[in-house]
Amino acid sequence: MKLLEERILKEGTVIGNEVLKVDHFLNHQIDPVLMQAIGKEFARLFEGLGINKIITIESSGIAPAVFAGLEMGIPVIFARKHKSLTLTDNLYSSTVYSFTKKVSNEIAVSKQFLSQDDHVLLIDDFLANGQAAVGLIDICKQAGAHISGVGIVIEKSFQKGRALVEEQQIKIESLARIASFKDNQVVFVEE
Ligand code: G4P
Ligand code: NA
Ligand code: NA
Repeated sequence: MKLLEERILKEGTVIGNEVLKVDHFLNHQIDPVLMQAIGKEFARLFEGLGINKIITIESSGIAPAVFAGLEMGIPVIFARKHKSLTLTDNLYSSTVYSFTKKVSNEIAVSKQFLSQDDHVLLIDDFLANGQAAVGLIDICKQAGAHISGVGIVIEKSFQKGRALVEEQQIKIESLARIASFKDNQVVFVEE
């Protein structure tokens, strides 16, 4: 997605050759105009698959997921990472290990909002090692829901996340694919 790549080049900063900071429009300050375009692009890429629900994970997945949900006219569920006062039982849960942060997080979704009748699109802001995606896929499987696709805003193609999704024969679309960070510059995957 050209518009997104331009924003990454203009406003992104590379940290330590492995992390892209995009706090101007995605991870801290959010640009709703860009998010709307991202939502439209996800809706286009996953059209005609009978998708009736979107699942993401708090917090940075919520903005792109909600704009896709708005465009597709379907609800968005976000998996919670922290224990909730009001969300205590009847949960699907999975453990997500972050290689970056070296911590495990329990993620949870209420059984009320996910079932075997659902055809789910999984959306997230970043795909790195794929552990968040794998956790969300696990939760969908526990519910018996069909996973219709995975939509990612920014994929770091040099990490193993994409392979983990493809391995399960799930359709994956990433709006920006980063091949490498060379001399602190972003190099995109050639189309
Ligand atoms: P994984 O799920 O793909 O295995 O990712 P990993 O453990 O490596 O990443 C942990 C957190 O860091 C995730 O956010 C993920 O979205 C984010 N992340 C990974 N690589 C990058 C990157 O290059 N740039 C940025 N900005 N973020 C990256 P999180 O902890 O779930 O936080 P949030 O959703 O609340 O922001
Ligand atoms: Na995320
Ligand atoms: Na994040």
